Amino acid sequence: MILAIETSCDDTCAAVVGHRGEIHSNKIASQGLLHERYGGVVPEIASRRHLETIDAIVADALEEAGAGLDDLDSVAVTRGPGLIGALLVGLSTAKALAAARRLPLVPVDHLHGHVVASTLGSDPIEPPYLCLVASGGHTFVARVDDPSSYAILGQTLDDAAGEAFDKGARILGLGYPGGPAIDRLAREGDARAFDFPRSLPVGGADSAGLDFSFSGLKTSLLYRVRDLGEQETARRRADLAASYQAAIVDSLIARLGEAIERQGAPHVALGGGVAANSALRAAAQELCERLGVRLWTPARELCTDNAAMIGAAARFTPQLAYPHYLSLDAAARLEQA
Ligand code: KG4
Ligand code: ZN
Repeated sequence: MILAIETSCDDTCAAVVGHRGEIHSNKIASQGLLHERYGGVVPEIASRRHLETIDAIVADALEEAGAGLDDLDSVAVTRGPGLIGALLVGLSTAKALAAARRLPLVPVDHLHGHVVASTLGSDPIEPPYLCLVASGGHTFVARVDDPSSYAILGQTLDDAAGEAFDKGARILGLGYPGGPAIDRLAREGDARAFDFPRSLPVGGADSAGLDFSFSGLKTSLLYRVRDLGEQETARRRADLAASYQAAIVDSLIARLGEAIERQGAPHVALGGGVAANSALRAAAQELCERLGVRLWTPARELCTDNAAMIGAAARFTPQLAYPHYLSLDAAARLEQA
């Protein structure tokens, strides 16, 4: 069994995962409320809270799995990308636990975790597949021929899709994180009420033309809200949320559709926090049915940050034997796998 730890942003996560992708436990302590009053994650506060919570979360994950440290074959941990102070809490904890038992340590790329989340559970996805990862910090379409790596076919040139949700929610006066708030409110609104831009950038010379851009959309919402004024914005908030969400979803789906048609991969997966969005899940399902490919949409708790996906990626990542990981550092940015 693998003990996996994830602390790259504002969720303190630990999980126990089997080598065939069985999830024995997947515990998450969310810090969302702690950061809400600041309208976003405050790195220093996140690190401190990770430090306070991590031991209890690891203990919970082991207990729920009915496992002790003696049952573990390795300890996996997110090495990056993420907030450096937050990452260091997870990495130090993982090193200490692994070193105490002379276990190997598996340093995992957080994005690799999102890409292989669909390999968990009783119906794992099989490569080759395409994966749309949309989270708070990243948005890309990748091709996976072997689960040990992924090739990015196109990515956002500015904001990530989750960032677009969070900033849009802020403009609309909804709470943080904005994605779930817009998702809920949009159900009561008309997605065709407002016309927001669907930006599909041409991309650079070395891009496959599958890039994304969301910064213009956010500006467009800002101007619309300014033009409507406070009262009218409040009255039409659900329509604004639904229309804004539809623009993000349409851009993501357009690129995913192009990627499927060009790459001819039979399997498709979603990943990242935005993959928890109901409109995106429904639209991706419709797209894949239309194109005759099978779609894996991981359970919502496997889309947003979690440690089970880090355990999933650990199965396909080289491990470091004791004591070679003791001087390993976290990496706020990682070179792409
Ligand atoms: O993957 P994740 O948990 O963390 C990162 O690696 O960034 O993604 C967090 C992002 C946030 O921007 C959040 O607003 C968004 O995912 N998100 C959603 C939903 N749930 C979380 N966006 C849209 N709809 C949702 N239901
Ligand atoms: Zn993430």
